[in-house]
Amino acid sequence: MEPAIPDLRAAPRVEAYEQLLQMQSLLLDGSNDVIAGMATTSALLHHAFSHLWTGFYRVVEPGTMLRVGPYQGSLGCLDITFGRGVCGTAAAERRTVVVPDVHAFPGHITCDPRSQSEIVVPVFAADDSLIAVLDIDSGEPAMFDEQDAQGLEALMRWFRVATA
Ligand code: SME
Repeated sequence: MEPAIPDLRAAPRVEAYEQLLQMQSLLLDGSNDVIAGMATTSALLHHAFSHLWTGFYRVVEPGTMLRVGPYQGSLGCLDITFGRGVCGTAAAERRTVVVPDVHAFPGHITCDPRSQSEIVVPVFAADDSLIAVLDIDSGEPAMFDEQDAQGLEALMRWFRVATA
């Protein structure tokens, strides 16, 4: 039986991500399947923090198009062009984007009207190519900060190792 996902909403963020990193490593031990990695990592993050939406948009046309991948939460839109919205911006600029107020982000794509803040983290393969972005939406304003960026970037390193 798989372990239960702990409720980490009240835990200090640094410790919460450290715990999730250990769980990710145990759960994905021996696997190099990136879809299994995306599914497992989005389930861990989503249930640990009770976010609105947690999941991946995969690069299906490099430099051009993202398509929804494994996720947890309400329905996500299917395709996002590079450069559009928060996901497309993070993909085009290959960097983490933290958005404290989605209504103030030009071109934000609304999949769920309850979303108030968002973080998008690029996912790189071992050869440094962009394979996806991790997108997390929250119903609370200003949910994400630099500690989340660092914790999530650490979790995304699994994909570099898996594709080496
Ligand atoms: N808000 C994102 C779109 C994806 S969903 O919210 C699931 C964006 O602006 O890129």
